[in-house]
Amino acid sequence: AAEIADQLTDVLVTEEQIQAKLVELAERVEADYAGKELILVGVLKGAVMVMADFARALKRDITMDWMAVSSYGASTKSSGVVQIRKDLDADLHGKHVLIVEDIIDSGLTLSWLLENFQSRGAESLEVLALLRKPEAAKVEIDCRYVGFDIPNDFVVGYGLDYAEKYRNLRDVAILAPHVYS
Ligand code: PRP
Ligand code: MN
Ligand code: MG
Repeated sequence: AAEIADQLTDVLVTEEQIQAKLVELAERVEADYAGKELILVGVLKGAVMVMADFARALKRDITMDWMAVSSYGASTKSSGVVQIRKDLDADLHGKHVLIVEDIIDSGLTLSWLLENFQSRGAESLEVLALLRKPEAAKVEIDCRYVGFDIPNDFVVGYGLDYAEKYRNLRDVAILAPHVYS
């Protein structure tokens, strides 16, 4: 369990690529939300790293809130059943809301969240996702800010876990099949 390198196959997105992409996305968000108040909503736990780095790439004031949902548990497949573990503190009514996610896989989590947030009366609602797996989509998500489209491998690191591990890796890497099969 100790040798992380033996549990990964390839690095898919490096730390440097992630940081450069977040700066690029931050510039787009700054332009798109000029003169508007913006609240970033991070989806715990996977979005912790992207929220921390994206928020610091922004050269403007924002507020931050967090929602904890989970659909995967200790599995490599989405159950499609989304559980709220922690709700937002903020009232979204009249706010410009940008949901910050680590990955869009099947799309089920965000599809559920978008519907849930729409009913809270936000002034605008958009999504930023560092990663997206087009081949895994079960529902189409309208995501304005996408970092990287990636193949349909099981990836970990930079917030993404398998059974709660590997979130602390600095890169996004492919988990070796022997770890989960
Ligand atoms: C992961 C990931 C996304 C979601 C994407 O979260 O962080 O939130 O799955 O998958 P989907 O598009 O198929 O719904 P998970 O449920 O594993 O919880 P976690 O963030 O705490 O790891
Ligand atoms: Mn998540
Ligand atoms: Mg997870």
